[in-house]
Amino acid sequence: MVQATLFYSAAALLLASSAQALESVTNWGGANPSNLKLDVYVPRNKAANPALILALHPCGGSGQQYSQQADYSQAAEQKGFIVAYPSATNDSNCWDVSSARALKHEGGGDPTTLNNMVKYLVGKYNVDKTKVFATGSSSGCMMTNVLSATYPDVFAAATCYSGVAAGCLIGSPGNSPSSSDRTCANGKINKTGAEWAKIVRAMYPGYSGAYPRMMTFHGTADNLVFPANLNEQLKEWSTLLNVQFTTNSTNDPSGGYTKMVYGDGSKLIGYLAQNVGHTVPVHKDLDLKWFGI
Ligand SMILES: *[C@@H]1O[C@H](CO)[C@@H](O)[C@H](O)[C@H]1NC(C)=O
Ligand SMILES: *[C@@H]1O[C@H](CO)[C@@H](O)[C@H](O)[C@H]1NC(C)=O
Ligand SMILES: *[C@@H]1O[C@H](CO)[C@@H](O)[C@H](O)[C@H]1NC(C)=O
Repeated sequence: MVQATLFYSAAALLLASSAQALESVTNWGGANPSNLKLDVYVPRNKAANPALILALHPCGGSGQQYSQQADYSQAAEQKGFIVAYPSATNDSNCWDVSSARALKHEGGGDPTTLNNMVKYLVGKYNVDKTKVFATGSSSGCMMTNVLSATYPDVFAAATCYSGVAAGCLIGSPGNSPSSSDRTCANGKINKTGAEWAKIVRAMYPGYSGAYPRMMTFHGTADNLVFPANLNEQLKEWSTLLNVQFTTNSTNDPSGGYTKMVYGDGSKLIGYLAQNVGHTVPVHKDLDLKWFGI
C-alpha cells in the first residue's frame, strides 16, 4: 500500500515535470516604455516552423499566472507550438488599450512592444508567420482586440474572453477597474459596425489587407465588463471581416452557451455563456481548433 502510494506519487511528479519551465526573455529589442515582461513556453519537441500563440493575462495577472489559467503547455508538447506569456507591470498590471500611442500601428505603446516580442520570437524559433495568434482574458481580451486592429497583418486569428471592442476605451485615463473611465466596461457605448470599423481603420491608416479571424466569448452574468460588450465586438469585427450573422447554435459547446455564427463560421464566432460571470473559462480545445493547430 505504502509502495503503491509512493509509486503513484512518483508517477504524478513525472507527469507534472513533463511540462517545461517558462523561459524569461529580456532582450527582444525595441523600446519598452511601460516595462512589459516576457516569459515563453518552448516545448521539447518544437516544430521546425512552429505556430506561436501570444497569450495575454487579465488585470492583476502576469505571464506566469496566465500560463496556469490558460495552460497550453500540454498541447504545445503534443503539437510543437510556442506560447508567449507577456506581463504588464503598470496600472494594476492592465494592458494599455486606451492611450493614443497604444491605439496606433507602430505608435510605441503596448501593442508595439508586444509586436516586437512576436518579431523576436518569429526570428529566433523560425515561427511560421502565417500561424501567429493572439488570445487573452479580460484586459488580455481587450488587448487581443487592439492587437487585431493595430497589427492585423501579424495575427492570423484571435480568441478572446470577456473583453471589449478595439477602441472602446479611447481617451480613458487608465485601463484598470479603478483607473479607467467605466463607460465602456459598463456596456454604455453603443456604436454601429460602420462606426467601429472607422475607428479601427484609423489605427492603421493605409492598411487594406484582411483582419484576423475572431472568436470571442462573454458571460451574461459579467458585472465587471458588461455583456453588451460582446455585441459591440461582433458589430466591429463583422464589419471589418465583411460577414453577417447567420445562425445561433444553442448549448454549444456545452449547456447554456449560445454560439453565434457569422458567415460560414470560419471568420467570426461569438459565444454568450448564460449565467457565467467575469471571466469565461478558457476553452483551450476551441482555441486550438480556431487557430487550426
Ligand atoms: C501607467 O498607467 C497610468 C494610468 O493609470 C498612465 O497614466 C501612465 O502613463 C502609465 N505609465 C507608463 C510608463 O506607461
Ligand atoms: C444601439 O443603438 C441602436 C441604434 O440607435 C439601437 O437600435 C439599439 O437598440 C441600441 N442598442 C443598445 C444595446 O442600446
Ligand atoms: C442569437 O443569440 C443571441 C444571444 O443569445 C440573441 O441575442 C439573438 O437574439 C439570437 N438570434 C436569433 C436570430 O435567435
